[in-house]
Amino acid sequence: MRTIDLRSDTVTRPTAGMREAMARAEVGDDVYGEDPTINRLEEAAAERLGKESALFAASGTMANLVAILTHGGRGDEMILGDRAHTFLYEGGGSAGLAGIHAHTLPNLPDGTLELEAIEEAIREEDVHLPRTRLITLENTHNRCGGRALRPEYGDAVLEIARAHGISVHLDGARLFNASAALSVPPARLARSADSVMFCLSKGLGAPVGSLLCGTAEFVRRARRMRKLVGGGMRQAGILAAAGLYALEHHVERLKEDHRNARRLAEGIASIPGLVLGAEGDLGRPPETNLVYFRVDGEALGDPSLDAAALSQRLRARGVLANPLGQKRDQMRMVTHLDVSREDIEETLVALRSSLEET
Ligand SMILES: Cc1ncc(COP(=O)(O)O)c(C=O)c1O
Repeated sequence: MRTIDLRSDTVTRPTAGMREAMARAEVGDDVYGEDPTINRLEEAAAERLGKESALFAASGTMANLVAILTHGGRGDEMILGDRAHTFLYEGGGSAGLAGIHAHTLPNLPDGTLELEAIEEAIREEDVHLPRTRLITLENTHNRCGGRALRPEYGDAVLEIARAHGISVHLDGARLFNASAALSVPPARLARSADSVMFCLSKGLGAPVGSLLCGTAEFVRRARRMRKLVGGGMRQAGILAAAGLYALEHHVERLKEDHRNARRLAEGIASIPGLVLGAEGDLGRPPETNLVYFRVDGEALGDPSLDAAALSQRLRARGVLANPLGQKRDQMRMVTHLDVSREDIEETLVALRSSLEET
């Protein structure tokens, strides 16, 4: 049975063209700065984001950690959303490895933080208090339904940060999705942050890698931090070649994933007992490639039918999707390079038949 894998956009496999580019990559020792393909990727990434420089890292988690290590020191504080990936899903690395205290604020349903709340959260100079060093935003916002943060919002946060002499880091794991959804160049979205991380291994379809972009001075210091966390790689140009290929071939097509997500969402919205939208934002159609919905077992006449049970039924029909949330009543489906329009229609058939099962 063929599988339709909607668990994440990280599940894509390199295409034939990408594999060929990887096989042909010129390589060298990147710790010596001698890998020409990595150098090219870092230049291309910096250029796309309108930053002076970029650093290739093994993962989004590593690039976020390296950014945090570069911006702050032990006992400093970082303001971020309570649904931020960096807060929820990166193993507590900001505290455990960087010694940075997380000051969370509630994420609004659109993935933003209230500007007034940010302003109030910034500590005054006092020997008792941690020093606020960093504000971290996320665009698109994963747990807030893949919402794309508007450039004007980023500008407003940067203005607050500048007024207090602190920095802004952007977790842009899916920055190119935000750019496609808003029809705004990625550099415009990156402009309002001092450092920006984006992933090659999600919607862009590369097997590995993320880039951390910022000023030349920031990236020089970040390079030391990457080494410190064991992220200095050697002939990794083979991986960078996949990234270059992704930037060339897989950016324009992201809109197709967004169209597929919208079609999937329409279908879900028409199924009684499934409620489209992320937690706190029910009913809203997706802006990008992440489709969240709630499974309402009561409405389906079977209170034991939660998202975990539904995901088991779907798996038996060749469709993979992740249940989530404390109450296990939410589900996420993600469209990507390896999911076609036909797959979306098949998924809707599988969803309907799973719910008819008694
Ligand atoms: C918003 C966001 N940031 C960071 C990451 C971490 O990326 P990685 O899985 O490459 O460590 C993810 C992964 O899904 C993510 O969704």
